[in-house]
Amino acid sequence: MSKKYLITSALPYANGALHLGHLAGAYLPADIYVRYLRMLGKEVVWVCGSDEHGAAITIKAKKEGISPREIIDKYHALNKATFEQLGISFDIYHRTSEPIHHKTSQDFFLRLHEKGDEFEEHFIEQYYDEDYDQFLADRYIIGTCPKCGHTEAFGDQCENCGSDLSPLELINPRSTLSGKTPVLKKTKHWYFKLDNHTEWLKQWVETGVLDGKQHHDPKTWKNHVLGQCLSWLDGGLHPRSITRDLDWGIPVPLPEGKGKVLYVWFDAPIGYISAAKQWALDNGKNWEEYWKGDDVELIHFIGKDNIVFHCIIFPAMLKAHGEYALPKNVPANQFLNFEGQKFSKSRGWGIEQHNYLEEFAEFPNKEDALRYALLRNMPENRDADFKWDDFVDYHDKELADNLGNFVNRVITLTHKYFGGQVPELKIDLQDKLADVTALTQRFTEELDAFSFKAASQTFLEISTYGNTYLQDVSPWNIYKENPDSPVIRECMFICLQIVGLLSLAAHPFIPFTSPRFRKLIGLPEVQNGDWAELLHKLENGLAIVPAGHQVGEVEVLFPKINDRRDTSRLEIVNRQKDKLAAILAAEAERIKNAPAAQELKTSEVTNTELPALKEVIQYEDFAKIDLRVGTILSAERVPKADKLLKLQVDLGFEERTIVSGIAEHFSPEELPGKQVVVVANLAPRKLRGIESNGMILSAEEPDGRLRLVSPAIGVSNGSIVK
Ligand code: 2FM
Ligand code: ZN
Repeated sequence: MSKKYLITSALPYANGALHLGHLAGAYLPADIYVRYLRMLGKEVVWVCGSDEHGAAITIKAKKEGISPREIIDKYHALNKATFEQLGISFDIYHRTSEPIHHKTSQDFFLRLHEKGDEFEEHFIEQYYDEDYDQFLADRYIIGTCPKCGHTEAFGDQCENCGSDLSPLELINPRSTLSGKTPVLKKTKHWYFKLDNHTEWLKQWVETGVLDGKQHHDPKTWKNHVLGQCLSWLDGGLHPRSITRDLDWGIPVPLPEGKGKVLYVWFDAPIGYISAAKQWALDNGKNWEEYWKGDDVELIHFIGKDNIVFHCIIFPAMLKAHGEYALPKNVPANQFLNFEGQKFSKSRGWGIEQHNYLEEFAEFPNKEDALRYALLRNMPENRDADFKWDDFVDYHDKELADNLGNFVNRVITLTHKYFGGQVPELKIDLQDKLADVTALTQRFTEELDAFSFKAASQTFLEISTYGNTYLQDVSPWNIYKENPDSPVIRECMFICLQIVGLLSLAAHPFIPFTSPRFRKLIGLPEVQNGDWAELLHKLENGLAIVPAGHQVGEVEVLFPKINDRRDTSRLEIVNRQKDKLAAILAAEAERIKNAPAAQELKTSEVTNTELPALKEVIQYEDFAKIDLRVGTILSAERVPKADKLLKLQVDLGFEERTIVSGIAEHFSPEELPGKQVVVVANLAPRKLRGIESNGMILSAEEPDGRLRLVSPAIGVSNGSIVK
């Protein structure tokens, strides 16, 4: 049987619209990858859908005074339609409220239950709201985070510091239903014995070996993904409760489970299975071929907050069940910020996908302009920052000035010199296209390795190569003297091959422009298998666009945003920037007008005991310290040293290993992507046998908690702090 690709993207909760960070995290990269696989002629199915259970949905319903069903119907429809409008080409966008999913999840649960040693049952003390007469799901309890002091942390997670929590850890817990302090009461729950799976999971994650066979190469996994997995495994795995006292979800399929439902994180990943089943039913396929057997290439696209579920818990569930394939890779992305700050719905900071489409309704090529800007700045290995100025630059400098200009010149000249026909020519194409072939191979390798940003860079290099080559030969100068010169024919022939190649390579990135691009060069829309054919042609010195082929009419593919004759596009972008400026101005105004709060803050600080100032130093002493901004790439615990973390820090000009005594304050998984200030010229020092090259700055609160000192907005790595 031939290899089957099963690609999944995290099922978004159907309780809200998705913003650009979501798109850049788990959907756009998967779309690029899947379009590429289809161009390679692979058998692939890409599943996604709405995650429609869990307390987040019921809380939202309660807030809006409507039923959970109304919430999920509304947001499922919105998210599905928006994805389609952005060219996110799922093979199926399913729903976890569908009966086929309920049955698949219940069967899955029963199979593990029947095995006897995968589950354990516990009566546990759980928070209960006496006014509302119900047990409180973790999300229904809010309190102070024990790790960072954030006062609005949820019972399962602190959204401020990202720590995983349990409701019992919260300081001053309160019920979101009644607002009162909940009481503890006994209830029965089922636990998946994740700890039983520690050994093989460790081996699988670290070496890629599964059941004695090489399953995948761990070197192909991203560092930050492996780092998080290993830190979970090192921290020790524990049984995880997989049932909840809620009235919304998939009923526990056991008589003793009455009134309880499966935990949303138990059923959601099973949604990948039920979606594949539904897709197979709709398309006359056999779903098992895509989920079972050695020939399955299962890849999960997710954001970094979902790594543990996809790399540890779900694989353990699949293995416990038996028969199912495990993921070959989980190329999780980090987070995208928006103009230097986190996306925040309540502040209006950021833009949701459907809002973007509305705001940019009159903007030609709005989908591809956005896809391209997100691609060029994808948070693949560290957090990234979306800026409207970059959006304009990527479009104008790269798509319009580089790619658009090259294509336009080639097509125009082909019309001028050869009546729009690719000239007849006998040359050794393999030799002439050697550089382009090498770049194309690199492009392919980068896509294979989920390095989409790098692939887009290579794509641009191919276009730059074409531009430079055309400029170097300058056929327009030769044409004046000798319009029949073979040099012109050769130059145009080669340029046309490059345009043909680019028209295909561009497809996964900018699929809306793709048909127009193809028309320009006179080729049909991209078909499955086209990229495989192109590679074959390059390898064998065959023309991509053969002699005699008629190219299309000249058309400007990317009208520039910054255009003095037509400012309409720039105005749309500027409107977005104005909105952000207005938010910041309003916030500044509010702070200015709240003197009482200001005074309170200052007096709080003066009441606490702060250490006395150190002795006065001269400016020259200070000036010796070279402070630089850097981004933490990865963090891991130092064995047998409770306080130490080993950090890899990107300083722009180089990567550094820094050993830092912050392990009691930060978990390794919360650090990658964070910007810090580094003492960059500190003499190296060995700590526990590791050479540390520099120091990161942090601020100690009077109560001993540490905060990293980092720029309020994203700053280029290596910037001097003065
Ligand atoms: O974090 C989330 O938005 C979850 N709804 C993702 C679920 S992914 C998968 F397991 F379904
Ligand atoms: Zn916290």
